[in-house]
Amino acid sequence: MKIGAVVVAAGSGSRAGGEKPKQYQTIGGRPVLWWTLKALLDHPRIAAVQTVIGPYQTGLFRDAVSDLDIAPPVTGGATRQESCRIGLEALARHGLTHVLIHDAARPFLSPELIDRVIAGLATHQGAVPGLAVADTLKRAASGTIERTIDRSGLWAVQTPQGFAYDAICAAHEKARQAGHSQLTDDAAVAEFVGLDVAIVAGSPENRKMTTMDDIAEADRTLNRNLTDIRTGMGVDIHAFAPGDHVMLCGVRIDHTQRLAGHSDADVALHALTDAILGAIGEGDIGTFFPPSDPQWKDAPSSIFLSKAVELVRQRGGKVGNADIAILAEVPRISPHLAAMKSSLSAMLGIGEDRIAIKATTAETLGFVGRREGVTAFANVIVRLPG
Ligand code: CTP
Ligand code: MG
Repeated sequence: MKIGAVVVAAGSGSRAGGEKPKQYQTIGGRPVLWWTLKALLDHPRIAAVQTVIGPYQTGLFRDAVSDLDIAPPVTGGATRQESCRIGLEALARHGLTHVLIHDAARPFLSPELIDRVIAGLATHQGAVPGLAVADTLKRAASGTIERTIDRSGLWAVQTPQGFAYDAICAAHEKARQAGHSQLTDDAAVAEFVGLDVAIVAGSPENRKMTTMDDIAEADRTLNRNLTDIRTGMGVDIHAFAPGDHVMLCGVRIDHTQRLAGHSDADVALHALTDAILGAIGEGDIGTFFPPSDPQWKDAPSSIFLSKAVELVRQRGGKVGNADIAILAEVPRISPHLAAMKSSLSAMLGIGEDRIAIKATTAETLGFVGRREGVTAFANVIVRLPG
């Protein structure tokens, strides 16, 4: 078997609403589509993954998958059925025997579910995951009940739906030629030409994001899994040198001196970056950005913090909170605390209620008190999947 996958992500998500289509809404710190693609890319039996996106979604797609090794997308059609056909055609050069067709809007597909669909394909032209209907079914088109429908033998079907590649391509072509364009799943396309399609056990977790409530619930689910709680701490010191401003927490503060350093010497961001790296057992800033490397000369320290945050995200985790203390005799920091909080909130991707910054003088004691430099301390909590 040589198996490929088509992920249809060309819908507009009209029932969910929101600023961007539901497949680009964030759950667990990542777009819905990222989770979907990751599950398929990570599965050892899947040789090629083809994404089908909407006509104006190229930028959204690029941002969503920037850290995934994924083939370029193709542009879908006006209906799901058309988008599937376009995705199938795009896989033609791979010499596939089988293909799985999956909704981008189902990010919780497990490797076991994929295995069950593939197992079904050993004996059938198609295999579709389904859940036996448990609730009593009523027909009530006008709002009042007309009749009760016998639920025995009824299944609610999901994706990924697996098929023999040539057979489903031919079925799509035939359905298109017959003027069908609104079939809502590929099993219906297969049914149109009479393919033999098995039902395999679906999974309740593999639900489709349809409304904003589904997306909010998915986000809660992913957050509940972040049970591996880590703490990290970081300290940094920079000396004053001649200049006209200092950078603290990404905010420029006018001052009669600057802080000396290879980068912009943002002592608070350096302490915070080290704290996050510490929480995930990853060395320190110098490990990733050696001071000997000229490309970091005068670099904004936000680059360092972004790298640490990205490493957390790559582990499927998130920063829980950050608590920062800055020891400085000068400049006065309190007028800038609000701007600093807002800057950190954007860089960390967490609310300002999870960020604390306090500044204190050293009461003229020590190197800080003698106005020779500034020290910063940072503590963080990082939550990783348990
Ligand atoms: N889809 C697609 N091309 C279309 C319509 C839908 O690729 N022309 C994809 C969607 O992106 C989604 C899947 O098919 O991943 C299932 O469709 P649905 O849940 O109906 O998504 P939308 O059509 O985007 O949502 P809505 O119906 O609420 O507008
Ligand atoms: Mg739709």
